[in-house]
Amino acid sequence: MKRVVIFASGSGSNAENIINYFQNSEKISVVKVYCNKKEAGVFNRCKRLKKDCEWFSREDFSQKNILLNKLEQEADFIILAGFLWKIPEPIVQAFPNKIINIHPALLPKYGGKGMYGMRVHEAVKNNCDKETGITIHFVNERYDEGAIIFQAKTTLKITDSTKDIAQKIHDLEYEYFPKTIEKTILKNGS
Ligand code: GAR
Repeated sequence: MKRVVIFASGSGSNAENIINYFQNSEKISVVKVYCNKKEAGVFNRCKRLKKDCEWFSREDFSQKNILLNKLEQEADFIILAGFLWKIPEPIVQAFPNKIINIHPALLPKYGGKGMYGMRVHEAVKNNCDKETGITIHFVNERYDEGAIIFQAKTTLKITDSTKDIAQKIHDLEYEYFPKTIEKTILKNGS
């Protein structure tokens, strides 16, 4: 059984979708969720789903290897589902090609520091783009630059609001993120 730990910073709708997808899997198990924001919606979702959700501080994350030591005990793969901090190098190095992120745009467009969530959709809207999409990629030491595993596109209408764009992106994420995680883990899981 491959053990997955999810990192989330916000509402956690992707985390919930991933937890539900693997609920009855015989090969992949979501063992825990970690969150860096005490007020994040993901805590309530995990409570409802009876999944352990643990808060951590920036210090736990970046210094003293507190989180790294736990992850080495608990996880084979780490999934970033709306997680907004950069992953420290020691964690990236301990999990080579085993940390998977989802980004709500077609990287390399709209990536990098400060580009997350609604900010991405606002930039897409301001540029009057005719399409956008999702990118699922491995995490390396640089924001949004790891090897791309999967992308999917959706077309946009000029009348789409940023909320409409966010909904189209979430629909793609819910459809493709769990399946892509599953394929990637079963392929790279040794
Ligand atoms: C998702 O759209 C995800 O792609 C994005 O945050 C949202 C989280 O939604 N991630 C990033 O922007 C990372 N740079 P959720 O909390 O409802 O899953």
